Amino acid sequence: MTAIPEQRILLIIGGGIAAYKTLDLIRRLRERGFFVRAVMTESAQRFVTKLAVESLTGSRVFDDLFALTEDSSMGHIELSRDADLLVVAPATADIIAKMAHGLANDLASTMLLATDKKILVAPAMNLRMWLHPATQRNAAILQNDGVVFAGPENGGMACGEYGPGRMSEPLAILAAIEQVLASGTRIPLPADFSGNQEAADVLAGRRVLVTSGPTREPIDPVRYIANRSSGKQGHAIAAAAAAASADVVLVSGPVALADPLGIRTIHVETARDMVRQVEAALPVDIFVGVAAVADWRVAETAPEKIKKDPKQEACLTLVENPDILAALGRRSKDRPALVVGFAAESEELVENAQAKLTAKNCDMIVANDVSRASGVLGGENNKVLILTKNGKESWPWMTKQEVARRLVARLAAMLAETGR
Ligand code: PMT
Repeated sequence: MTAIPEQRILLIIGGGIAAYKTLDLIRRLRERGFFVRAVMTESAQRFVTKLAVESLTGSRVFDDLFALTEDSSMGHIELSRDADLLVVAPATADIIAKMAHGLANDLASTMLLATDKKILVAPAMNLRMWLHPATQRNAAILQNDGVVFAGPENGGMACGEYGPGRMSEPLAILAAIEQVLASGTRIPLPADFSGNQEAADVLAGRRVLVTSGPTREPIDPVRYIANRSSGKQGHAIAAAAAAASADVVLVSGPVALADPLGIRTIHVETARDMVRQVEAALPVDIFVGVAAVADWRVAETAPEKIKKDPKQEACLTLVENPDILAALGRRSKDRPALVVGFAAESEELVENAQAKLTAKNCDMIVANDVSRASGVLGGENNKVLILTKNGKESWPWMTKQEVARRLVARLAAMLAETGR
């Protein structure tokens, strides 16, 4: 995708080793025709120089909250007003915490508070800092406020550790920026459903059960079969339903996300654990199966770590897991008024999704493309196709929070139509 000429990015560079990748991001943004203005925190300047950023952006770098008054044409409000999108890369734990709590004690945090423009953050930090409950709480607050996250990714870190916390590659951040700009530049309404009183009227006190994330099927005490689901889409749907006054239960596989605020979240590991918890949560009015439940598990989990044996080929016998969605769709007693499934496809999206709608007796299937190229699995954005017995509808690329808000509004309307 090529940038619409003159789209303006205010790039806030935080203090982390990943700042060196931000230089490449600037280069790529400029190649695409974006105008980039940069603000650097004090600690960012320990990792990359102002001179390098100025050379690449081709314009002055801002770093001092109080110096802005010297330049009458560029006060801090003007700086953010002038931008189509604010991008924070790298977004450190400190910047994320300041944003979540509305702190404004330097130029970067002041910009982020003094804006009504959309904000995209690319976190980068040590994995323990990212997984710390405080950072996860702060990230959840920002997601709920409509801030878009690009990453972090799993990978090796400068400190020698491996795990989530590595800043996304410049091309991935660039793709996220283009998607965000394509879906509008204003901050989406927070998930309070203001302006959507109808959905809240229908869902107030109604029980909504959402599954999210992957399941992990153990091979032996140390190994397991899993998939790349992050839980972002499922958690966003649970949060949007709760924001629309529903009584939500979220059954989540292992994810690196904070539990959404105010939602009863039950943590499970395997598909069979998930089935048990889903059944225990019934009856509900709406079931939304977003979890990427493993289709198979190992027939017998080895009690001890399986040893390598050069004389024998390693072989795992797999058996099928129970299908939670199909079981709910086909239930005669306690069938939810609406049974909604997702279809994760890497080919023939429409045909496969249509087949799941029928085979699993669902009221709706939300189909999405999970090929590696789409970036949907684990990413911030989604493009879905909605299938019901009455037809199909394709939605454009949007953040997973936006998908969630729209979906919840749609489900509220469908529930009202059922008269139940
Ligand atoms: O978690 P994210 O990184 O945000 O990514 C979101 C997502 C891509 C995982 C999500 O949008 C999605 O597509 N979820 C469905 C994943 C999936 O397992 O799809 P499927 O086509 O294999 O299964 C179809 C439906 O049957 C799903 O609703 C699934 O929850 C359900 N199912 C599948 C197998 C099984 N044993 N039990 C089930 O209930």
